[in-house]
Amino acid sequence: MSNVAELEYTPAVAAATQPIYERVKSVIPEFEWPVHAPYVDAINKLKAERNAVILAHNYMTPEIFHGVADIVGDSLALARKAAETDADVIVLAGVHFMAETAKLLSPEKTVLMPDMAAGCSLASSITAADVRLLREKYPGVPVVTYVNTSADVKAESDVCITSGNAVKIVESLGTDKVICLPDQYLARYIASQTDVEVIYWEGSCEVHERFTGAELRDYRKQFKDIVIVAHPECPQDVLKEADFVGSTANMVNYVGEAQPERVLLVTECSMSDNVAVEHPNVEFIRPCNLCPHMKLITLPKILDALTKMEPRVEVDPEVAARARVTVERMLAYS
Ligand code: 13P
Ligand code: SF4
Repeated sequence: MSNVAELEYTPAVAAATQPIYERVKSVIPEFEWPVHAPYVDAINKLKAERNAVILAHNYMTPEIFHGVADIVGDSLALARKAAETDADVIVLAGVHFMAETAKLLSPEKTVLMPDMAAGCSLASSITAADVRLLREKYPGVPVVTYVNTSADVKAESDVCITSGNAVKIVESLGTDKVICLPDQYLARYIASQTDVEVIYWEGSCEVHERFTGAELRDYRKQFKDIVIVAHPECPQDVLKEADFVGSTANMVNYVGEAQPERVLLVTECSMSDNVAVEHPNVEFIRPCNLCPHMKLITLPKILDALTKMEPRVEVDPEVAARARVTVERMLAYS
């Protein structure tokens, strides 16, 4: 078992982590690797002892994303994989609602969250009571809820969505109107892609709402051939400037398929680092907005969580039973 005293950059650690460093050396400077490598090595050993799997969101830093994660992806991929894994323990390297979703889908597993304070401005913008009031105001209109919400809010909803499947699910409901919560920008983006009327909530992602159309027009002036790829949590004037709009996984796929010479990913900073590792021939222009919640997750906290087997994410069983239905409906639709 690991303890902090062992965490030195020894020749054995250097040798064990060399193949990983080879992959990430374009985005992690050589002088920094001796700080990460002992944690990478200790986590990978302890993970095997615990029969644990590390699920990491695309916004994790490269030493987590490429160093210790078993499964990486967007919110939809993480939910799917959490439902499928046969590990005993899931460590969620992401934010709290993602760990809650994993617990909903795998109630018998231990779900560890390296830092319980890793929240989300969207999840904290709405409560279960708000959803009940909306239902009173719009009786009979289905409530379509972004996964970036608490289990309490999911439990009051009809179906979950992620940015990777939102339009498809809204259209599959067969109604002329839906309530889409809580991201106003994602809701407006969905409305622009369908004839279904979308009633929205005023929530927003504190990372994506900071980008502006004017900033992107400046980049276009500076780099004539730039390809702009944006996340649908961005405001409409930003999406108007984009060549492609999609979830983080769809952005990754787009870059892989299109292989643009120069690309700007309008999303959280670490995405560009993680994707750049896979595509050395693509130049990434980086207007950087950090998610302060995602950035609370670090290698030392992951090691600590696996060592102590806490903090554990638990969901009230009655809430979980109702919330699970909405997430499972989403997985069935997609
Ligand atoms: P996706 O990875 O599902 O596109 O979500 C982005 C995001 O902001 C997650 O918090
Ligand atoms: Fe929430 Fe935005 Fe951070 Fe994603 S990037 S966790 S939506 S605040």
